[in-house]
Amino acid sequence: MKIHVFETSEQLDQYAAELFIDLIKAKPDAVLGLATGSTPIGIYAKIIEQAKQNNVSFGGVTTYNLDEYVGLPPENDQSYAFYMNQHLFSRIDIPANQTHLPNGMAEDPQAECKRYEAMLEERPADIQLLGLGHNGHIGFNEPDGGLSGPTHVVQLKEETREANARFFASMDHVPTEAFTMGVGSILKANTILLVVRGSDKARIVKEALTGPITTLVPASLLQTHPRVIVLLDREAGRMLE
Ligand code: GLP
Repeated sequence: MKIHVFETSEQLDQYAAELFIDLIKAKPDAVLGLATGSTPIGIYAKIIEQAKQNNVSFGGVTTYNLDEYVGLPPENDQSYAFYMNQHLFSRIDIPANQTHLPNGMAEDPQAECKRYEAMLEERPADIQLLGLGHNGHIGFNEPDGGLSGPTHVVQLKEETREANARFFASMDHVPTEAFTMGVGSILKANTILLVVRGSDKARIVKEALTGPITTLVPASLLQTHPRVIVLLDREAGRMLE
């Protein structure tokens, strides 16, 4: 595991964006695993900027997102499909049919999980971007006595709904379930890029990276992966040695 701590958020964004741009330059048909939340927004902005500056095309790139809320259509501005269009897809030259998220409106959620997982099996990500929840969740894999390996539907914990409520009109509007890649799906990626910002996540960063490997801290399972790159701002890294 390589851990980089940055003085400023902008330096972190710049570094992360370069990793993606360099990958696409070397491999124009790269498969990217993408994430949502507040953490990646600055990274996407830099990717858009660097792609323009370096004339890098996303025409051959394929993307798979980690998760999506159950019950939100892509037109809902809180869906992750809407977020991805707003922050990245509409601003690069990627064909829409090469971008993938679980379908939040799927009539048969179990069939949707299978469909999504089959695509991931066929084309594992070259790099998977991840944020980190305050309770150690990755994607929407919540702390639990056991974790599902493949893509599945989860009941969101109250603390996760509360953390994400800031984006919704009220707590009642926050969905109770989500589709998420499982930890098994995530660990299939060739390289994992975990990005964490902020003092409020310093404790969980320390637990996840240096504590015991346990399903009660889903991100701690990343310790079992051979190629993990962790990017932290100074605040998120303050409890590490
Ligand atoms: C949500 C997402 C996660 C994300 C987490 C942290 O629960 N499903 O993928 O990592 O929030 O979000 P933020 O980056 O806004 O702190």
